[in-house]
Amino acid sequence: MNIEDIPRRRFDALIIGAGGGGLRAALQLAEADASVAVVSKVFPTRSHTVAAQGGMNAALANVLPDNWHWHMFDTVKGSDYLGDQDAIEYMCRAAPKAVYEMEHFGVPFSRLDNGKIYQRPFGGQSQNFGGEQAARTCAAADRTGHAILHSLYQQNIRAKTHFFDEYFAVDLLKDEQGNVLGAYVFDIHSGEELIIEAKTTLLATGGAGQLFRTTTNALINTGDGMGMALRAGVPLQDMEFFQFHPTGIAGRGMLITEGARGEGGYLVNAEGERFMERYAPTAKDLASRDVVSRSIFTEVKEGRGCGPNKDHVMLKLDHLPEDVLQSRLPGIRQTCITFLGIDPADHPIPVYPTAHYTMGGIPTNRQGQVVVPVKDTPEEPVTGLYAAGECACVSVHGANRLGGNSLLDILVFGRSAANHIIQYLKENRFHKALDESVIKQAYDRLHRWDNNTGGESVDDIRRDLQKAMEDNCGVFRTQDVLDKGVEEVSKLAERLKSASITDQSELFNTARVEALELENLMDVALATVYSASARTESRGAHSRVDYAERDDKSWMRHTLYSSEDRKLDYKPVRTKPMSVASFPPKPRVY
Ligand code: FUM
Repeated sequence: MNIEDIPRRRFDALIIGAGGGGLRAALQLAEADASVAVVSKVFPTRSHTVAAQGGMNAALANVLPDNWHWHMFDTVKGSDYLGDQDAIEYMCRAAPKAVYEMEHFGVPFSRLDNGKIYQRPFGGQSQNFGGEQAARTCAAADRTGHAILHSLYQQNIRAKTHFFDEYFAVDLLKDEQGNVLGAYVFDIHSGEELIIEAKTTLLATGGAGQLFRTTTNALINTGDGMGMALRAGVPLQDMEFFQFHPTGIAGRGMLITEGARGEGGYLVNAEGERFMERYAPTAKDLASRDVVSRSIFTEVKEGRGCGPNKDHVMLKLDHLPEDVLQSRLPGIRQTCITFLGIDPADHPIPVYPTAHYTMGGIPTNRQGQVVVPVKDTPEEPVTGLYAAGECACVSVHGANRLGGNSLLDILVFGRSAANHIIQYLKENRFHKALDESVIKQAYDRLHRWDNNTGGESVDDIRRDLQKAMEDNCGVFRTQDVLDKGVEEVSKLAERLKSASITDQSELFNTARVEALELENLMDVALATVYSASARTESRGAHSRVDYAERDDKSWMRHTLYSSEDRKLDYKPVRTKPMSVASFPPKPRVY
């Protein structure tokens, strides 16, 4: 199709991504009578939120005393003091309301005997209560994300949100002043291209777990929104902080929820020792994820791993009562039966840390506005552009996210971004004219994959990228290894420029989708290795063997990586909360 013939559609708001963040925002907008389009490369209920298992944090105090301020403290501490405390306060205060909203939208939360929402302990939650771990994670068995995503989708159908299902977003569109005004997309099924003009655009495309070979993330998690933001001139923030979940199924990566340990499961090494007692004497198996992942890695490295290759540890659930397994953990039980042929009721589960969550992302403020440094101002909003959820960095997770804060983040900040958009739309009632040269760039980027046979295969490069990231940007890092990561990923980026695909068809050309995804993934990988090799300290998930200590004097600051010249910049952490005293950095022990 010629560029002039590409059809155009107009909406008040365009949302790219149909996970929990995108759908929560869409619902808020649709209910405010905005015309809202959601573009999703998969059918919405296949978005990765569906895979979230353990639950969503909120200080409801249904099981033990709790309040939002303790939740805030745990989150600041969990972030290794890199999280922005104003955003963390906002999220923790909003959490109970976010849960009750979901309950009213139809989420079938598990229940206590008194009928209140069931809450389980999760990693990094304080032990303020006579030595008992808090229980702050609201759960629908171990399928909480599934329940939330389906409820939100149904609510959006009721509210008449317009869905472009199985459409791929190629790039953001702008006017000549740099205001973001929609996106260039195509229908994966028919190959037909479409220009969506929108007064506001929200990126809610999720994370980039496909950077790594072994991951809990779906194949769709290729950092598309982050790639689009980089190409639109927005830097990515804190990309060196990538979370490894302690309990992926060893060698395969499927998630075994932290809720399994919240229900009383524990980890053992080859000697049958509960080794977490040594690493985190108080919280033990429910220390924060970075701590537990490093402990497992160390056990294996020091020769106490299980199995013929001594390359994993075991998660024991066989002491739990049958009704706990059946009512609280049915999903992971089924996963073990299906993929391992073992029932956790009789047999421990082989587990090992696996890539799980992108803590960094597109920098935003609490209203979801994407912010960039302009002259001496570290955070100026980009007009028309918003981001929420895992692709964004608001930053509530800092250097390490607490389990159960991800579902919360997407719902709180999806809603908050939509509220800001509603306000913006009242003040900006008309569409602006697109810059045609930006449309041409997107068109060329898409069509560069046409008729370009003979180059290297996209699949090979993707496999090499995942290996390079796993080898050089994993749980423990050193300068040599990170520098090698920069070198290897840079070479792969060069190779990708002359790669090609063999399928040239229009209809359902998944090879073309995968090529575009790999371009996004490559940009995100570069951001990750460059940011990591520059940070000479250990903080949260960024654990340097050669710089073993946290260095608050030099590194209480956020990294900003820009694609242009692969440049790094920094901005201060927002240590001042909205209304309470700030939590100053302290040694972080569990
Ligand atoms: O372990 C889990 O259920 C994962 C939860 C999360 O990442 O928040």
